[in-house]
Amino acid sequence: MQSGRTTVSKFLIEQLHGTDDQADLAALLVDVTAAVKAISAMTSKGALGGFLGALDTQNVQGEVQKKLDVLSNDAMIQACEWGGLVAGMASEEMDDPYTLPKEFERGPYLLIFDPLDGSSNTDVNVSVGTIFSVLRHTKIGDPTVADYLRPGVEQVAAGYAIYGPSTMLVLTVGKGTHGFTLDREIGNFVLTHPDLKIPADTSEFAINTSNERFWEPPVQRYVAEAKAGKTGPRERDFNTRWIASMVADVHRILMRGGIFMYPKDTKDPSKPGRLRLMYEANPIGMIVEQAGGAASTGRGRILEVQPTSLHQRVPVMLGSKNEIARLERYHAEYDRGEDKAFDSPLFKERSLYRDEARS
Ligand code: F6P
Repeated sequence: MQSGRTTVSKFLIEQLHGTDDQADLAALLVDVTAAVKAISAMTSKGALGGFLGALDTQNVQGEVQKKLDVLSNDAMIQACEWGGLVAGMASEEMDDPYTLPKEFERGPYLLIFDPLDGSSNTDVNVSVGTIFSVLRHTKIGDPTVADYLRPGVEQVAAGYAIYGPSTMLVLTVGKGTHGFTLDREIGNFVLTHPDLKIPADTSEFAINTSNERFWEPPVQRYVAEAKAGKTGPRERDFNTRWIASMVADVHRILMRGGIFMYPKDTKDPSKPGRLRLMYEANPIGMIVEQAGGAASTGRGRILEVQPTSLHQRVPVMLGSKNEIARLERYHAEYDRGEDKAFDSPLFKERSLYRDEARS
């Protein structure tokens, strides 16, 4: 018998009590944990489960769908559609929002999710995750796309699960960010990381440097200065990490600080960033802010971006707040034409940055 352990259900009931709406939100998040346990079981079976590999289909982003993307999407729908807690759901894997079958009661929330973030990593046995965002829905009838297009500041809950050596759930209902670890023998998520805090300062950053020549000058400046280390303007050495699975990179930042960047780039000029606002940047942004960090596009708070479409992309910079403030300053200086960084020896030596930045 395990005693004195706070399960996620107990924790949610304690955090969300008082009104029926809050009880419904707690119940919805418990349903989400049921889906997360099912996805965890599938991902952990690896090649033995027969779930690896790609399908012949593409999602709305034109990305090839993995079997696990579709199975994880189904798991979320099945766990959350029946309980009278959601009015509708939207996900990375569905072009349009999911309309609940007629027989199920409509509830007061909208659930938006990326069922398996970083799914290209499943075939190589690297950590992946599920990301989710909850908005309130007050209208009668099935929600339209416009009902989902609300800024991140309106989220009432957000979270992610990470399927790594252990499966963890990290969530917020606007009262701090808290982490739970799945006890596989018992089947419960147990509170193991209450009140996570991201340190304000860091010397670690995560970015896909293969895109360096496509970045905007303020991001090139930040990375060039960090890479120059002790001998550069930052006068200290930095460390880099890149898992190519946003949940895993963000989880590291919640555990020990750091920043994560997927900035706007010119690789594909039709895309204003790689990551999706509604089911990646907004929920992770809320988690990070609730842990004392910052989440920015480089030119403003992610949670204040007014969405214009369900699958819209956005530049993302998040984590330790003093470094995010520095990145915002570099963008502002550049936009005002006051950026003196390109007169610095760093850029004189590196003609690549200088030529790209000035062109
Ligand atoms: O959803 C997109 C995603 O898989 C993120 O989880 C990850 O941070 C990023 O793409 C990886 O991008 P890249 O392939 O450029 O490294």
